[in-house]
Amino acid sequence: MGLEIIIASKNRGKIKEILFFFKDNKSIEWGSLADFVDIPDIEETGDTFYENASLKASTVSLLKKTYCLADDSGLCVDFLDGRPGVYSSRYSGKDADDAKNREKLLQELSGIETSQRSARFVCSMVLSDPSGKIVHTSTGRCEGIIGFKEEGSMGFGYDSIFIPSGYGITMAQLTESEKNSISHRGKALEDMKEYIGRLP
Ligand code: IMP
Repeated sequence: MGLEIIIASKNRGKIKEILFFFKDNKSIEWGSLADFVDIPDIEETGDTFYENASLKASTVSLLKKTYCLADDSGLCVDFLDGRPGVYSSRYSGKDADDAKNREKLLQELSGIETSQRSARFVCSMVLSDPSGKIVHTSTGRCEGIIGFKEEGSMGFGYDSIFIPSGYGITMAQLTESEKNSISHRGKALEDMKEYIGRLP
C-alpha cells in the first residue's frame, strides 16, 4: 500500500484544490475529514495560522494514526488591521458562511477607495506523522486588493471579491490551475509537495 495522508479539513474548496495539486502523484492514498463523520470539528483556538494548522494536523494524526496535512488560511485586509485573518471563516458571526462573510467585508470597506483596499491571502500548511509529530511546515501568500462587488463563480470563500495583483479579474474568475499557480495555497503546496515526494 502507498503512503496514506488525511487532509485535516471538511472544507470542500480546500480539499479540491489540494487534491488537484497532487493529481499526478498516484502513489498517495488520500482521505479527508469530509469522509469521517466520527471526527468532530476541531476548535481553532490558536492566534496564528500556524498554531491552528498544527493543532488540526496533530489531533487528526493521533486519532487516525496516519500522516495528516492541515491548511489554515485566511484573508488579511490592511485597512482592517489584518482582519478577518484567523477568523476568516467565522467573520460574520455564529452562523457565518462564505456569502455572509463576503457581504460583511464589502460592507466594512464600503466607500473605501482602491488604494486602501490592499489585502493578502495567507496559508500555513503543516504535515504531521502518524505519531502526531509535526514533520514539515510551509507558508504561502498571495497579494491583491478587495474588489467593489462579487465577480466570478469558481473557487470558494472570498475568491469572488479578491483581485490578485497584476490581474484585472477576481480569483473566482481563474481556472483551478491558474488559481493554484498564484495562490497562497499553491505556493505553500509547492514546498510541501517536494517534502512529501521524499517520504519513504
Ligand atoms: P480555516 O482555514 O478553515 O480556518 O478557514 C479559512 C477561511 O479563509 C475559509 O473559510 C475562507 O473563508 C478563507 N479562505 C482560505 N483560503 C481561501 C481561498 O483560497 N479562497 C477564498 N477564501 C479562502
